[in-house]
Amino acid sequence: MRTRTVALSLSLTLIVGCAGNGEGLDDNGRPTEEGEGGGLSADFDSIQSNVLTPICTTCHSGAAAPLGLRLDEGASYALLVNAPSTEVPGLLRVNPGDPDSSYLIQKIEGTAEVGGRMPLGGSPLPAETIAVIRQWILEGAQAPQSSGVSPSKLSAAWPIEGTLSRNAPAIVIASERELDTSLFQAGTLTVTRSGGDADFANGNEVQIDARIELRSLSPTVLAITAPPGGWTADAYRLRVSGSSPLAVTDLNSVAIDGNADGQAGGDFELNFSVEESK
Ligand code: HEC
Repeated sequence: MRTRTVALSLSLTLIVGCAGNGEGLDDNGRPTEEGEGGGLSADFDSIQSNVLTPICTTCHSGAAAPLGLRLDEGASYALLVNAPSTEVPGLLRVNPGDPDSSYLIQKIEGTAEVGGRMPLGGSPLPAETIAVIRQWILEGAQAPQSSGVSPSKLSAAWPIEGTLSRNAPAIVIASERELDTSLFQAGTLTVTRSGGDADFANGNEVQIDARIELRSLSPTVLAITAPPGGWTADAYRLRVSGSSPLAVTDLNSVAIDGNADGQAGGDFELNFSVEESK
């Protein structure tokens, strides 16, 4: 129930990686963390700004992104790392530590079982670029640098006691800091009504057409207002996705800590009931 305001310093990203030898390669002949003039290096920020944003987002962005794979900044990390491929569901798009079994690598090397080589219809990525992406995966597919800040938890600012009256205005949920609000869309935030039996698994649930209002951007606060016609007296469940295929993330692409276990990922769930107002 606690809502804290944390000023997130984006300049964190700029402080890291200054220990490189300046030659672009380390003693093992691998690219260093910080190349001259912002060249490609084996960290996610660099891969985002040198490869994904300029080459892949012409197709892979927004609601129409192929196979739901958005590769634009803010969405890409959560949709790649530990997220199952749609084409070959047995493989993760990025399997930290194992580039060979990462579907992303198979797609850019042209060895995938399904579909074309990425970028689709364009020239293949240079071998050196693929090598750097492989190295990032091999080193554990680390999140963007500012993930040193712990993943953002959500909390219900309202209802406080788990009960709303029928004419209650809204449910309010708050994040500890700013989230990528473009990710709040069909599928990532759902409100379900039990169908009168307080059971959410027996098939008579009703998906509610609730309206979402942004109350504050930083930290992100959302109000979920009553559906047309008001709340029906029933048990409800509000869920915000912190897991693949489409997770709500903060501005650094780190998924929310939905289940409050101290780790990014996991769904946030709020159960509440609506009673006839007296
Ligand atoms: C011209 C549009 C286009 C561009 C540019 C493009 N893609 Fe794709 N991508 C697609 C389409 C369409 C599919 C699905 C059909 C297929 O796989 O051929 C796809 C599928 C994928 C998949 C499979 C996802 C899954 O869940 O199975 C991955 C991974 C992927 N693309 C990565 C990339 C990367 C990385 C880049 C940039 C280097 C890129 N794509 C550039 C259109 C594009």
